[in-house]
Parts: sequence; C-alpha cells; structure tokens
Amino acid sequence: MTKNLEQMKCLFEPQSVALIGASGNPGKISYNILSNIVASGYKGKVYPINPKGGEIFGYTVYTKLEDIPGPVDHAIIVVPAQMVFDSVKECAAKKVQVIQIITSGFSEVGNTEEEKQIVKYAREHDMRILGPNIFGTYSATAPINSTFGPADIMPGGVAILTQSGALGAAMIGKTKAENIGLSTIVSIGNKADIDEADLLEYLMYSDQTKVIFMYIEGVKQGDRLVKKLKEVTKVKPVIVVKSGRSKRGAMAAASHTGSLAGADGVFDAIMKQCGAIRAETVQESLNWCKFLSNTSLPKGPNTVIVTNGGGIGVLAADACEKYGVPLYDDLETLKGIFADKIPSYGTTKNPVDITGGANPAGYEKCLRAAFENPEVHSVICLGCETAMIDVENLPGMLEKIYHDYKDTKPMSFSFFGGDAIEKMVSDLRAKGIPIFNETYDCVSIMGALYKNLHNINEPAEDFSFVDSIKVDEVRINEIVNKVKADGRTFLLAHESAELMRAAGVSMPISKVAHTLEEAVDLATGMGFPVVMKVVSKDIIHKSDAGGVALNLENRDEVIDAWEAIMHNCRKYNPNAKITGIEVCEMVKSGTETIIGARQDSSFGPTIMFGLGGIYVEVMKDVSFAALPISKKAAMNLVESIKSYPLLLGVRGEAKKDINAVLETIIRVGKVLLCCDKITDIEVNPLVAYEEGNGAKAVDARILLTKD
Ligand code: ACO
Repeated sequence: MTKNLEQMKCLFEPQSVALIGASGNPGKISYNILSNIVASGYKGKVYPINPKGGEIFGYTVYTKLEDIPGPVDHAIIVVPAQMVFDSVKECAAKKVQVIQIITSGFSEVGNTEEEKQIVKYAREHDMRILGPNIFGTYSATAPINSTFGPADIMPGGVAILTQSGALGAAMIGKTKAENIGLSTIVSIGNKADIDEADLLEYLMYSDQTKVIFMYIEGVKQGDRLVKKLKEVTKVKPVIVVKSGRSKRGAMAAASHTGSLAGADGVFDAIMKQCGAIRAETVQESLNWCKFLSNTSLPKGPNTVIVTNGGGIGVLAADACEKYGVPLYDDLETLKGIFADKIPSYGTTKNPVDITGGANPAGYEKCLRAAFENPEVHSVICLGCETAMIDVENLPGMLEKIYHDYKDTKPMSFSFFGGDAIEKMVSDLRAKGIPIFNETYDCVSIMGALYKNLHNINEPAEDFSFVDSIKVDEVRINEIVNKVKADGRTFLLAHESAELMRAAGVSMPISKVAHTLEEAVDLATGMGFPVVMKVVSKDIIHKSDAGGVALNLENRDEVIDAWEAIMHNCRKYNPNAKITGIEVCEMVKSGTETIIGARQDSSFGPTIMFGLGGIYVEVMKDVSFAALPISKKAAMNLVESIKSYPLLLGVRGEAKKDINAVLETIIRVGKVLLCCDKITDIEVNPLVAYEEGNGAKAVDARILLTKD
C-alpha cells in the first residue's frame, strides 16, 4: 500500500479522531461536527480538544492534544484561522496522519502564504492536509460523518468530491431526497495539499464506491489528475461537473476558491481523453450517479426504444445520438420480436412504435419480448399519456418489469403527461426506478452507462509506437540553454528550425546569410524558388516589418528581396540589430495544419491540433489533449476537429498523410516533455501532403520560461 493510500485510509477509515476546537455550544460549527460523528455511529475513539476541558456528549474533553493517552491518526481543526498553524504543530508532535482544516480565511481570501507554510510544515512532518475551508467528510465504510452538514446520510455506492463546501453540504440533503446512497462525501476546499488525485487513489480501491462524482471549479496539478483518472475510469465511472465554463463563471470561481478555472475547451478535451464523463448540471450528474450505482452493465450495444408515440420516439433517437447511445438496427430481428405484438400500423423499426392504443398489457408483452431476446442489450421505454394508457395499472406493471429484469439488462423509462403521470413518475423514482418525465433525461443516463462500458472495454494505452520515436534530447537542451544564456525567452526562427530538426520534424532547408553574396550563393545552392526572412531578435513579427519575401524564382529576385527586406526592417525599427537574412527552401503547398504544445497552467504539458488558416483563426476548430500522448490518442486529437474530413480528402481530393501528421504531433509533444524550460511551441503551418508524401513544418515558434 502506498503512503498516500495509507493516509487516505486514515481520512476515511480513522481509528481515532481528535476534534480541535470542540465546543459545547450548539451554535458552533465544531459542536455540530461532534454531534454528527456521534450520530453516525462511529466506532473509533473520539477526542474533543478545548482548553476549557470538561465533557461533551459524554466524551472527556482534553485541554491539549498531547494529553490524549492513545495514538491519533485523524485530526479535525475547527479553531479560528490565526490559531490553525499552532494546532497543526501540535498534530505533528502527536504523529497525526491526516488533518481536516475546516477553518476559512486562507488562500480563498488572499492568505496564501500562511496556507503554503502550513502545508509545507505538514508535509515535512509526514502529515496530509484536507482543506482548508471545508465542511468535512463522510464515509460509509467507517462509518463516520465529520461534516457540519445534515446528520442523516443514506449509505450507498456514490462518492462525491466537491470543491464547493456549500454545494457539497446541500448535496447531502439532495442525495437523501433523491434516494441516492453515498459511500463518501468529501469537501476539498482550497485543496492546498490533498487533491482529487489523492482521493481517487483511495476511491478506486474502495469496494463501497461504485461511482465517483467530482464537482470541480479549478484544477491544480492537472497532470496528476490526468494520470489517476485514466486508471480509475478503467475500473469505475467518474462523473465530472466543472463550473467556470464561461468567462464570468471562471472569474467567480477564481474568487471563490482561489483557483484558476483554466480554458474550458482544454478541460473538456482532457476529461474525454481520461474517460471522465462530463455532465452539465449537478442534477444531471446525480441522475447518472444514481443509475450507474444501481444498474448492471449492458452486455453489448443493442439498445431498443419502445414507445407509444412517434414524437417522443424521434426525440429519444435524437437524444441517443447526442449522448452516444447505440441503437439496434437489425430490422429482421426487431420484426421477429415485435411484429406479432403490435398493431399492423405500428412500426417494428427502432424506435419501436407500439402505437397510441397501447395499454399496460400491450407494453408488458413488448417489453418482456425485448428483455427476453438475447440480441437486445438495453431498453428505453417511453410513454405519452393517452386515454388507453391506464395510469391505474401502468405503475405496477413497470415496477414488476423493472424488478424482473434489472439484474440482467439496463433499462430506463420516460413518461410524459398530466398529474397522474407526474405522480407515477415521482412515486416510482422514490422506489429507485430510473424514470423521468423528460425523454432526454432518460436517454442521458443510458449514455453515461455506455460511456462507462466503453472506458472499461477500451484496451490499455499502448505507447510502443511513441517509444519507438526518438528525439535528440541532448541537442534540444543544448539549443535551449544557449538561448537562455543569451538572456532570451524565445528562439529565433533558424534556432527553432534547428531544434525541430533535432526532434526529427521535417523542416525546409534553410541557412542564414550574412551578406548579399552569401544569400545568392545559398539560394542557387538549394534551388529556386526560395523564401527570405529577416533574422533579428528585435523583430519578432517579421511579416509586419516587411521582413519576409516569398517565392523568389531567380538570382535577381534574391538581390531585390535582400535590399527590400533590409530597407523595410531598418525603417520598421531603426535600432534593430539585424543578424542576417535566412534563405529557405520554398515549401510546396498542401493542406495547412497547426500543432501547438504548451505548459498549461492547470494541466501541465498539453498539445493542440487544428487545420491552419481560417479554420484555426475564425472557426477556432482545434482539439486538445494532455501529454504524453499515445498514437491512438493522437489520432483522436486529429479526428476530433470538425474539419477532419478535409484531411481524408473531399471532392475527389486525395487523402492526406495523416500518419506523418500523427508522427509530428508525437515529436512536438516529446520536445515539450524533454525540456522543462520550454513553455510554448507552435508549428504553423505544418503542410500535410498526399498520403505517403509526408508533412513539412514551414515555421516553428518556441517560447521559454521567464525565470
Ligand atoms: N485548541 C482547542 N480549542 C480551542 C483553542 C485551541 N487552541 N482555542 C480556542 N478553542 C476553542 C474555543 O474556546 C471555542 O470553544 P468554546 O465555544 O467552548 O469557547 C472553540 O475552540 C471554537 O473557537 P471559536 O473562537 O469559538 O471559533 P468559532 O467556533 O466561532 O469558529 C471556525 C471557528 C468555525 C473554524 C471559524 O473560524 C471558521 O473558519 N468558520 C468558517 C468555516 C467554514 O465555513 N468552512 C468552509 C465550509 S464550506 C461551506 O461553505 C459550507
């Protein structure tokens, strides 16, 4: 067992708990925490600490932590902020393993330095900190409820990790109201130390936990989260809601918990890459949690929709496409199952329309036939209220069907209508049956289930191709160190080109000419046409300065271009020190793509891909992934841009060399990973040629760390 896992066990399954700041005053937060610990039936030792001593809830109150006779593995600090550090020091002396700091007043209000000091001290003394600024933790395994939220928590299979305390506390009540059992609920607050990745390590092995739900506002150390999520989602579903999608929301999140919300596109893409299932709202995620913690996995992709109305059938089919629910399309089998059970004017095509005349007996016949057929793997049952639907007998039939088949095949229901239908839906939901009014809700839970199935069936990531691709790490670092020694945080174009060549990225032949004669010789040597670009550390935007000349066909054009570039650049910035003019091979035209790699403030090393020109500038048609990237993930990156068909070739055009693009993506990613002084790389454009003819990078921009 790793040290982290041991300490997370002390968080969720402590042998003994000390409550520092325990008060006998029912109006105090610490009183409520102690009251919840007692009410939850916690079997370990409980040690309230308060300088006044005495007794609370029959427990002896110790005046100091050091006076406790036995060991303490878990402490909860509920004293005002200015006293917290001293309490942490007392915990170190007592060899506490993990501390929850409930107290607010740290980085969320700008008191970042003290928070850092506390964590540094704790880590130096082998202790872990949850919080500060949290509402506490519940664990059904211990069991222990050390929150100051509601006392009444229903044990079950859903683990909730929440960065918002208030929302988390409210979710305790909400889950109870929705009949959702929790394995744990843990408030992460400022996540000064323990973060989602630490908690996921424990939850992955927790038998009690069937589904994990994370409410996130901002990601810190996202590279650890990515690694852990990839492991956990192969074993159990992780559902994520991230607020701060919009600019306004991101600003609000930053002031709420003091963490950066980061770009939503990057977050979204990386969650998909890791197999996390992203929900838009808390209600949607709770629907998914409830379903996924109670249902069996489908044995295959064949979902059948049974409906009494064409309209809701079409809505459901739309929703299946949106949420990725695979619909069964074997017309013969469907006919075989349903033809003799529905009127001739119904349809056996999926969605199967059993017609508006369907009564509970008609539904039952069709549903049983679907569940009994081995080709059908899951069922979505829909209904619109009609005079025939018989709301008296419908609920009993649905309940029976649910119990008869729930352990073998997943199913979800949606019924739409008046008061009687609304009542039926809420009564059946209270009994744990996955039924909704809204068609999309009933399909979305099935979508989450199929995403989970996909994650579980997905083979482990294969890095053999990536490992076989080598980049010259020594040369790359030499080039970067030389630029750093020169006091620059960016590479000049010829330096970037050299670095890219060291990474095995195909770049046009280029050399810097220091005199006109040299330029003419170089151009003649490499063959026309050529491109000429000014080389000056004082001129970053070469085109704006008139420092670039394209498509030079002969000696005379090279001479004219030399003079024009020198003239333009001296006029643009008279003080610019011009090293020379770079003479490059003119790259043949093809499909322009763009590859970016950068150290993201939330996720660390990430990579971006898109088509060049208007696709990136106007349409913002780009995709992201976390590094390192496998060949398959690189392919997902390329396939997930909307303009991907252009690479496959449209209107009779040939397919482009996608393999060469993938290899370049992998090489650029490797450059970022092998040199921690590089913050940004942009290869723009990378021109992709027809399949088999490779790809060539025309230009590369590389930025370095400022320190
Ligand atoms: N060791 C132990 N106990 C001590 C010490 C000490 N060194 N010093 C004082 N105490 C006692 C106090 O005497 C008091 O007990 P008493 O009631 O018997 O006098 C008790 O500890 C608590 O101290 P108070 O000064 O009364 O502090 P209070 O309980 O009012 O507030 C708290 C402390 C709750 C930590 C507060 O500072 C705070 O941060 N509140 C916000 C908590 C929060 O919202 N967290 C985020 C949750 S997420 C969400 O939004 C839901």
